[in-house]
Order: sequence, then structure tokens, then C-alpha cells
Amino acid sequence: MPGWLNQILYLVSAVLFIIGLKRLGSPATARQGNAISGVGMLIAILVTLVDHTVVSYGVIAAGMVVGTALGLWQAYAVKMTAMPQMVALLNGFGGGASMVVGAAEFYRVFESGANIPTPTGVVMQLSLIIGAVTLTGSLVAFAKLQELMSGKPITFPAQNASNLLVFLATLALAGWQVSTEVPLILPFYGVCVMGLVLGVLLVIPIGGADMPVVISLLNSYSGIAAGMTGFVINNEVLIIAGALVGSSGIILSRIMCKAMNRSLANVLFGAFGATAGATGATSSAGLTVKSIAPEDFAVQLAYARKVIIVPGYGMAVAQAQHQVRELADLIEKRGGVVKYAIHPVAGRMPGHMNVLLAEANIPYDRLYAMDDINSEFDDADACLVIGANDVVNPAARHDKGSPIFGMPIINADHAKMTVVMKRSMAAGFAGIENELFYAPRTWMLFGDAKQSLQKLITEVKQA
Ligand code: TAP
Repeated sequence: MPGWLNQILYLVSAVLFIIGLKRLGSPATARQGNAISGVGMLIAILVTLVDHTVVSYGVIAAGMVVGTALGLWQAYAVKMTAMPQMVALLNGFGGGASMVVGAAEFYRVFESGANIPTPTGVVMQLSLIIGAVTLTGSLVAFAKLQELMSGKPITFPAQNASNLLVFLATLALAGWQVSTEVPLILPFYGVCVMGLVLGVLLVIPIGGADMPVVISLLNSYSGIAAGMTGFVINNEVLIIAGALVGSSGIILSRIMCKAMNRSLANVLFGAFGATAGATGATSSAGLTVKSIAPEDFAVQLAYARKVIIVPGYGMAVAQAQHQVRELADLIEKRGGVVKYAIHPVAGRMPGHMNVLLAEANIPYDRLYAMDDINSEFDDADACLVIGANDVVNPAARHDKGSPIFGMPIINADHAKMTVVMKRSMAAGFAGIENELFYAPRTWMLFGDAKQSLQKLITEVKQA
């Protein structure tokens, strides 16, 4: 294929990636965005395959068969709740691939006895380091989420200082290699091993519940590593795709941190989640909770005109999305309006609630982002908080000592009546007492969310 055609087709796939990413921004266009990006990737792969520098089609074909089989198996077998760890694993492989390509390129030059020009040396070292960090960091994130190791932050004295030392030592080795230009095997091995160790060290102090932010950051690293590899092997589409993945991962990490009112540094170095605890039936201010029976609440729901549902992590744990839909249908049949208020960090991964509610075929237009629905709570007859805790905690608005102070929250406490469905008085991810539970217009409906909803459905049918 002539070089100019190659470049034009790479440009077409880059444009398709960008259009696809843009379309991923809304649930209504996300499927289409995914397909458009997929076509872009197909074009990029085909153009690369007809490139004259391909050494062995047999090896590539074998890799594609194995990769496709594994991908298909994952797509069908992995449950929605295990999606964060699957993404972690895929990121890790992306980083590992960049590291391997960087290493292969190093060996090629090493064996030919040629020098490595400084710019190539810099990007090669970066692809090795970032690729290695992404690989082992993602494997630790996977192990934490898959509960193969403790999800709690693993800390030790002077941890940040020793991590900094390992980081500086890795940079020094890379600097040595770049400055000599002659390929040296010692700094090469040193950079690879130190990079792999650094990945583990950086992720072990982070609590399991902060893993979504870490995974999105590692996703960004895998993109940056791929971009660097693109420079090493002179592949434009790899540079562009790497830059897109790198920047979108960073943007997503920032969105999550902002929605939690925490800095990225606090997520990475703060060992958040180490002190999660429980709260009691009487608040620290001496207020007590009131509970409500499903049959009593069902009567209110049956006659409510406007109901707002606030889903949270507990709905995902209970897998109660289908019962949520059934209850909403019943309320609507009786003339009520049901809307869903979605907090950007409800659950444990971006879009967690949207995905679950979509699985239960709840129309997208019923799902409202926090900022779009917060003003509607004042005239809601009932607010149903299903397994959400931190995202509806009013302490975030005024308690300067609270770890979630400043985090924007859903105005569940503004509704005429709020019912919180959870199993106990246990705290949420932030490990703190929730003022909402003790508020005068709040009632607790204790029990597993799925079972409680099932009872409500039965009662509303009879009301
Ligand atoms: P949380 O504050 O974590 O609270 C979840 C609640 O669900 C718990 O209090 C738990 O109480 C209840 N629950 C658990 N299993 C249940 C079940 N089977 N039935 C009913 N209730 C159940 O959840 P949230 O309000 O969604 O907030 C999310 C938190 O995660 C925020 O602090 C956020 O900052 C953090 N976070 C989110 C993300 C993303 S991207 N979403 C990323 C990192 C961190 P019981 O045990 O008493 O039932």
C-alpha cells in the first residue's frame, strides 16, 4: 500500500475514534459510539496488517485467534459486577504490550550494535517504565477487586518516601541509558524490574473502593505508554489512540475525584478507607432512627404523584434493578411519575447505576444527573433511597470535619418523605454517620434491597 494511502486511512481511523468517544458521552448514543470506534480500530488493524514491515502473518493470526476466543469468552462469562476488575486486567495487558514492544525494539537495536538516538531513547524508556507500572499496578487492582488479596490499604512506615526513592532510582537508570546512547543491558533490566516493583508499590496503599479512580488512572497510563511506543516504532495511529486513551483516562479520574471532592493526590497517597466503621440507631447528636414497615410505605407509594428513586452501591450488591423497575411500573400505572436521581460516583464505578438500570430496561430519559434533578426534590411526595449512603449524606454540605465535606450530594432530605432501604445502620464507603437517617422526614426500611422491594411490590399491588 502506498505510504500516502496508509496515512489517510490512519487519519480516518483516528477521526472515527474521536467521533466514537464523543458519542460515548450519552447513554442514548453510547452503543453507536462503541461501534464507530470499533470500525476505526478495524481499519487501523487492517492497514497495519498490509504494512510491508510485518514479519510473520502466522504468529499474528495465532495471536488473533487466541485473543478473539478469550475476548468472546470474557464478554459472555464476566458478570456486570465484575466489570471493574476486567477493565483493570485489560489495562494491565495494554501496559504490558507497550512494555514488550519497547523491550523488543531495545533488543533489536542492541543486537544490531547501533546507537539509540536520544529522542528515541527517551520515549523507549518511558514506554518501558509506564508500561511496567501499568502492568503490575493493574494486576494488584485486579487482585484487590477480585478479593484475591485484601481490599484494605496496605501501608507501612515512610511508604511515600520509599516509593519516591524507587521512582527516582528508576528515573536514574533510565537517564543512564539515554545519556550513553549505546544500548546497555544492565540499566535496561533495572528499568524493567524497578518499573514492575513501582506498579505494585503505588497501588497497594489504595483502598479497594478507590480502585475505580486508580483503574481509570492506570487506563490513562496504558494510553500514554502506547503513545510512547507509537513514537518508538513510528506508528501514527498508535500515537493518536494512545493520546486519546491517556487524556480520557485522566479526565475521567478528575471527574470522579471532583464528584467525591477529593484530590487525586488524596486518592493515591491518602490510604482512604482504612477506618471505615459502623454507626448506631442513635446518632452522635442523640437523635434516633424511625423504621417503617413495607405495608405502611406501600400505601404512601400507591398514592404518590411524584417519586424520586436514588440508587446506590447497595442496589448493585442486591442486584435489585429489576425489582426497582417493577415497582416503578406499578406506581406509574396508578398515575404517579417516577424519576431516578443519579450521583456521578454512586456505586463503585463510573456509570455503575446507569448500566444496571439500563439492564432492567428503564428508559434513559427517566435517569437524571444530580444537578438536573436536585431542585425537584422539594415537590417529590416520596424519595426512595435504595442502598445509597454517602451520596445522600447532608453532612457533606456543612460539616467541615467530615471526610466528604464539599462533595456535591443528592437532595434526598428535601422530599416530603424519604425512605432509606439498607440492611443495617452500617456506614457506607466513607465510613461515617449519615444525618439523613435521623432526619424528621426519613424512615428506614431495613433488609436486603431486593427482598424489601419485592415486599413493597406485593403490597402496592394490593393497595
Ligand atoms: P455507599 O456510601 O458505599 O453505601 C452503600 C450502602 O449500601 C451501605 O451503607 C450498605 O448498608 C448498603 N447495602 C449494601 N448491600 C446492600 C443490600 N444488599 N441491600 C441494601 N443495602 C445494601 O454507596 P453510595 O451512596 O452509592 O456511595 C458511593 C461511595 O463510593 C461514595 O463514597 C463514593 O465516593 C465512593 N466511590 C465511588 C466511585 C464511583 S466511580 N462510583 C469510585 C470510588 C469511590 P448496609 O450494609 O447497612 O446494607
